[in-house]
Amino acid sequence: MQITIRKLKESDIAELARIERESFSRPWSEESFRELLTLDYARYLVAAADGEIAGSAGMRVVYGEGDIDNVVVDRKYRGNGIAKALISELIALGESEGIKEFTLEVRVSHAAAIRVYAIAGFTSAGVRPRFYEDPVEDALIMWRRG
Ligand SMILES: CC(C)(COP(=O)(O)OP(=O)(O)OC[C@H]1O[C@@H](n2cnc3c(N)ncnc32)[C@H](O)[C@@H]1OP(=O)(O)O)[C@@H](O)C(=O)NCCC(=O)NCCS
Repeated sequence: MQITIRKLKESDIAELARIERESFSRPWSEESFRELLTLDYARYLVAAADGEIAGSAGMRVVYGEGDIDNVVVDRKYRGNGIAKALISELIALGESEGIKEFTLEVRVSHAAAIRVYAIAGFTSAGVRPRFYEDPVEDALIMWRRG
């Protein structure tokens, strides 16, 4: 399988919104993705597997830190290292802009995602109680400091 990572473009959005709907209880809408394309502090990458959209990951640059969110991989492509590749490309992109600190939140029960982030060098830095809805759950706050 040939995996490529590149920046989000308008023509990716409908497919990404489908992957979101199938993956999250509170999915991002097509409008949310479209708005990203207009925000100068937002960076958004998509992964293509053999030319087909397979996943995405985003980052907001806030006060010189990279705040990573919305990491998602289409069900049929999971387990192929795509999330790992997306996070590592986002970090490389941030580092190329001089960003040294990255953070994210993840559901405390989400072992797969926590594993992906740990591999990328993130460590736990505390819990934000009842951060998530649908279902309500605490968030683990993770940081990666250069
Ligand atoms: C979490 C998610 C993004 C992982 O994507 P992925 O492309 O399958 O992950 P990768 O293939 O890059 O896996 C990276 C590492 O995590 C491990 N991993 C992935 N899924 C796992 C699972 N279900 N259980 C245990 N470990 C898992 C892999 O084994 C790999 O570790 P390794 O290199 O030591 O083998 C994907 O499952 C997903 O989109 N889930 C739904 C959306 C979501 O919950 N996103 C996270 C929000 S914070």
